[in-house]
Amino acid sequence: MKTIGLVTPGGDAPGMNAAIRAVTRIAHSRKLQVLGFERGWDGLLTNNFKRLTPRSVGGIIQLGGTMLHTLRCPKFEEKEGVRKAAETLALNKLDGLVVIGGDGSFRGALDLGRESGKLMVGIPATIDNDVFGTDETIGFDTAVNTAVKAIDQIRDTAISHERIFIVEVMGRKRGFLALDVGITVGAEVILVPENECKMSQVVEVLRENARKGKRTAIIVAAEGVGDTAAIAKEIEKHTGSEVRLSILGYAQRGGSPTARSRLLASLFAEKAVDLLGQEQGNKVVGLQNGAISNIDLKESCEKRKQIDSRLLKLAEMLSI
Ligand code: F6P
Repeated sequence: MKTIGLVTPGGDAPGMNAAIRAVTRIAHSRKLQVLGFERGWDGLLTNNFKRLTPRSVGGIIQLGGTMLHTLRCPKFEEKEGVRKAAETLALNKLDGLVVIGGDGSFRGALDLGRESGKLMVGIPATIDNDVFGTDETIGFDTAVNTAVKAIDQIRDTAISHERIFIVEVMGRKRGFLALDVGITVGAEVILVPENECKMSQVVEVLRENARKGKRTAIIVAAEGVGDTAAIAKEIEKHTGSEVRLSILGYAQRGGSPTARSRLLASLFAEKAVDLLGQEQGNKVVGLQNGAISNIDLKESCEKRKQIDSRLLKLAEMLSI
């Protein structure tokens, strides 16, 4: 093996740059060249790459985003797109490809691996933390901390005005981000798509809190639960309290990665390059019970990561 490719498709996540740096430098120490494809899968469709060297990835470990840029690329979802990308891998005599991203990117990698016969290794990086086969993804810890900082500030004004706040966090269709954020800000209610929660239950919790003398509440809602503006109106109607909605939005995807996100990026990168060095492909690296591990790419794409329902119970106990 002499040359490997690197690509960061899909939504960016803080720590992707740390992973690009680590893959490049570890590959260099193993005498492998690295081509970094720009703008996600589009770079493979247009053969647009830059040669990454230990120097060209200097000074990026602390930067959010991805120096390779990214683009949602519908063309790659078509058969013809995958075929074109496979041609690019062959044209550049690539022996393997490291795909840094989330489950959507890994489904793309699975198709490309089948079409090209090249070795694919996925490094999980998404603020959603919804990749099967890893307890944590690169960027998740940073996004949790970003949201916690914002909500701590919201709590100040919530207390002053004695208001209820709904804070919507990202996560696409999953509630991993909302759950960790909810616990660590001491949310009175956490709404996640995995757990059907009736309006009557939410209202009952808020009424009970009011009876106990709590005059304010933070409700952390995953974006996947639906129309949070409508939920806010409903709660206002049923409780008679003032309810404000704050959607944290894209700020959660940016910012300097935390030490934990950088560390995961470095450890995942080492494992990914190791696997390719051993000519092993169709893998996703991950963290399982504290150890760096890997699972089959197909399995990671097909299985659904479960949310830890004990954490929802814990949050309930802590918010009395
Ligand atoms: O997957 C990461 C994520 O930020 C989700 O939390 C969010 O739903 C989605 O990407 C937003 O996607 P886009 O960047 O295409 O608006």
